[in-house]
Amino acid sequence: MITRPFGWTGVPVAVVGQGTWRMGERRAAEADEVAALRLGIKLGLTHIDTAEMYGDGGAERVVGRAIARRRARVFVTTKVLPQNASYAGTLRACRRSLERLRTDYIDLYLLHWWSERHPIGETTEAMEELVRRGLVRFIGVSNFDVPQLEAARAALGRERLACNQVLYHLRDREIEREVLPYCVRHGIAVVGYTPLARGGFLLVVVAEIARRHHRTPRQVALNFLTRRPALFTIPKASRPEHIRENAAALDFTLTRAELARINAAF
Ligand SMILES: NC(=O)c1ccc[n+]([C@@H]2O[C@H](COP(=O)([O-])OP(=O)(O)OC[C@H]3O[C@@H](n4cnc5c(N)ncnc54)[C@H](OP(=O)(O)O)[C@@H]3O)[C@@H](O)[C@H]2O)c1
Repeated sequence: MITRPFGWTGVPVAVVGQGTWRMGERRAAEADEVAALRLGIKLGLTHIDTAEMYGDGGAERVVGRAIARRRARVFVTTKVLPQNASYAGTLRACRRSLERLRTDYIDLYLLHWWSERHPIGETTEAMEELVRRGLVRFIGVSNFDVPQLEAARAALGRERLACNQVLYHLRDREIEREVLPYCVRHGIAVVGYTPLARGGFLLVVVAEIARRHHRTPRQVALNFLTRRPALFTIPKASRPEHIRENAAALDFTLTRAELARINAAF
């Protein structure tokens, strides 16, 4: 398993994890989804990302089944929806997530995206209370830009922001401009979502580099997207061959020239 310290927390977290969006939506698919997540855990993809939003709680239920008897090996992230993120609403949402996840703690609890619906200070106060009660280890946010990160950091008292989960794939590297440097400066881990971008990055240059390393273009993409110490990625895969491919994305090193070629191509 390839892990690295998760920002300032120093906790070793799998660099390549597993997403769960679109899981838990159909009962008939659940057994396969549980098996997929378990295969991923076995192969070292032990950071599992979910949210109360996904499948209306269905994805959390799938994760709960997948991590049974494996809880200590897994780093579980879930998210509260902005409309639920008042002080009392956040506490209630977390309880519901814990029940669905069948666990007594969440490793990382995120606000899914910024909203004016409830003041950020209410959400952060509730999240700090959850940490105080031992129900959440670390708190973070998702889809935040720099001013929003500043506001969240200013609102926090005892705790620090551990993570910003953001869109990051080869065709959308916007975070490299401001969000990533800001997070690096403040020890905030950056978890990139939708890393495979529905294959929209499959250019000749990536294919060539992949061939040279006897790897696939998607492995090259995941490798590139985690090339800096602050970066983590959470591809979602249900098919066993996809999970195996993603799990082997970091056992080769892109040369400086290759990194530069990919940089130039995107
Ligand atoms: N914070 C947020 O706002 C936010 C937003 C979007 C996503 N996320 C999180 O990030 C996770 C990942 O993003 P995503 O699900 O949008 O997209 P993604 O991981 O970029 O792509 C998922 C798709 O790629 C396929 N796939 C996975 N590995 C593959 C491989 N090696 N070869 C070929 N195809 C492969 C999957 O197929 P199979 O399933 O058939 O294997 C699935 O159709 C989500 O599941 C969710 O947990 C967070």
